[in-house]
Amino acid sequence: MSKGRVTSGMRPTGSLHLGNLLGALDNWVRLQDEYECFYFIVDWHALTTPGGGDAVGFENVAFLRTRVKEMAIDWISAGLDPEKSSIFVQSHVPEVAELHLLFSMITPLGWLERNPTYREMVQGYKIESPSYGLLGYPTLQAADILIYKGDFVPVGRDQEAHVNMTRDLAQRFNSLYGKDVFPITKALLTEVPKVPGLDNVEKKMSKSTGSYIALSDDAGATTGKIKSMFTDPQKIRKDDKGHPDGCVVFAFHGIYNKDEVLTVRSECEKGARGCVDCKMQLAERMNMALGPIRDKRMELESKPKVINEILRAGAEKAQGVARQTLQEVAEVMNLPPKEIF
Ligand code: TRP
Ligand code: SF4
Repeated sequence: MSKGRVTSGMRPTGSLHLGNLLGALDNWVRLQDEYECFYFIVDWHALTTPGGGDAVGFENVAFLRTRVKEMAIDWISAGLDPEKSSIFVQSHVPEVAELHLLFSMITPLGWLERNPTYREMVQGYKIESPSYGLLGYPTLQAADILIYKGDFVPVGRDQEAHVNMTRDLAQRFNSLYGKDVFPITKALLTEVPKVPGLDNVEKKMSKSTGSYIALSDDAGATTGKIKSMFTDPQKIRKDDKGHPDGCVVFAFHGIYNKDEVLTVRSECEKGARGCVDCKMQLAERMNMALGPIRDKRMELESKPKVINEILRAGAEKAQGVARQTLQEVAEVMNLPPKEIF
């Protein structure tokens, strides 16, 4: 049956888009049938950066609750199934904070300072005075994973350094206290389709540049965004010969219209296809594929109590596991029990 435990999380900093769906969520959904999965919305991690404007952070907490709710709705609409997986909010299992504290005692500062993601975040968000929490981000992530004894973590390449540090911490803990309390977690780096931004095939779809299609966009909004996608600027009339490889619309045909992508290419290159028609065809395909997710979204939006119940039950299950792990940790670290004398 279960091949082991899968753990993964996402920061509720903004709305989910097609890049998240195709890059992570679809994969999480598949893993549910083979592994015991723990999927959590990492609200504490969202507070490691300042935020601002639309993005949640410690200086901008106004939308934090809404984002958590939206993320839960997005996840479940995309196919995460509370019957199969534990779906919950990181901070609803406060045991994670306790393990994070204990891990912070055995995390060498050098590991954190050398973490490439830390440097990227400081530069990317132009953070003048990085916080203690930001530096400790990977230690908190290790606690997220190891408290549930995660064997596998499905993440993108950008998270490899964090998973490696999780492994190093598990190893260090196990060897310091002479017992294999924690598994040596592996990253599951699955090949995912490259999802471009709407204005440039070379760039990834991203929240920060604003060029994305959100899961919460309806069919009309999606069609509108497809109409504004970047195409071959040299192709003005239908009979102009086009260059599909530089065209964002073509890249999306490769994802949502696989059956006809060869035809699209040859017609474009021959000058037998106009960009407007090409876009309309894509819009039809994409709206068809996204229809079930949108329907589920609408249904959940109208029943917020269902989300409460899913997150509550998920946290409860996760907390049972977390408490057990902490018990083992306290034991090997010789932390005093209440009835010490
Ligand atoms: N750092 C991850 C990201 O930005 C989010 C995350 C937090 C996570 N805790 C985790 C991912 C535990 C996997 C497992 O994508
Ligand atoms: Fe892109 Fe289609 Fe226009 Fe070719 S015809 S440039 S693939 S939108």
